[in-house]
Amino acid sequence: MTANTKESILEALAEARQRTLELVEPLDDEQRNRVYSSILSPLAWDLGHIANFEELWLVQTIGVREPMHGELGRFYDAIENPRRTRGELPILRDAELRAYMADVRERTLEVLDAVEISPDADDPLLRDGFVYEMLLAHELQHNETMLQLLEMVEGYEPLRPDGTSAVATAGPEMVEVAAGEYEIGARPRGFAYDNERQRHPAELAAFEIDRTPVTNAAYAEFVAATGAEPPMYWERDGEGGWVSAARGRRAPLQPNHPVVHVSWEGSDAFARWAGKRLPTEQEWEAASERLESSGQAWEWTASDFLPYPGFEAFPYSEYSEVFFGDEHRVLRGGSWATHPRVVRPSFRNWDLPQRRQIFAGLRCARDA
Ligand SMILES: [Fe+2]
Repeated sequence: MTANTKESILEALAEARQRTLELVEPLDDEQRNRVYSSILSPLAWDLGHIANFEELWLVQTIGVREPMHGELGRFYDAIENPRRTRGELPILRDAELRAYMADVRERTLEVLDAVEISPDADDPLLRDGFVYEMLLAHELQHNETMLQLLEMVEGYEPLRPDGTSAVATAGPEMVEVAAGEYEIGARPRGFAYDNERQRHPAELAAFEIDRTPVTNAAYAEFVAATGAEPPMYWERDGEGGWVSAARGRRAPLQPNHPVVHVSWEGSDAFARWAGKRLPTEQEWEAASERLESSGQAWEWTASDFLPYPGFEAFPYSEYSEVFFGDEHRVLRGGSWATHPRVVRPSFRNWDLPQRRQIFAGLRCARDA
């Protein structure tokens, strides 16, 4: 990984913001404010929260400045305000919201101009530009949750075409990973979230893992054979098959594309039906260098979201610590909606086992 400079940070901040604004540009203010789902925020909340997170960390914490809008920040606190309540909050909207985003950014750039970014800065927030990497990851990760919401917006036409691609069919069905000790987690240097550390050894028995994620065609076979719940947005085509109805538009499903919008429960049931099982997150990470085709869909794993040995919350416990336990399952990889800056083998995503709004599918494993 190359060291951060002010120039590289400036460029990345501008790129992330352009991506955020492009996502909502085709919409009107009413659509930006509308509540489409109790499990997703209205887009106006995401936009204000992205700017408020930036103000909190880059302007108030690093720049030691007073909040620009008094108490406003508490309405953008993700833990204080569950998603189902966000449509009712007195948040900024329309022109005021756009002005706030621009004002925060102006202050961020003033602060950036005055700080020192260095690999051996005393402040761990500034060391290697950590806080800027955190900010970028935050905005880009919110872009993905915004894309989840945009699946529900009737007639949404993105400015940039969505990415996704067929799974590679040539090659063996599964790859074998030898028994042994594997290093799991992020290395000490470079940006990673607290939940990816400490890096630690894990003893794994030999296993096999699918070379490619499960496709739409394979999942349709499973639904037909078992009567399982279909992925979110699948609708009957009238001839015994399925179409995708995301964004209110009925479009053919590509049989050889990775299935998405399935729950952990569905993924686990698929794997058993196929005579296999979900990989643990340690197995997924140990195999990751050999899975050519990750990054098309998030992949559910068998693992609960738990802290690694030696975990220390940094820089705030609400990013991961409050979610640890047996309620959430870990997803690995990344989807077409995930910015490459966010994708790395040690990255841990998590959600509730019944949720289907994520661009998530699965890959199967079995004992060797
Ligand atoms: Fe957030």
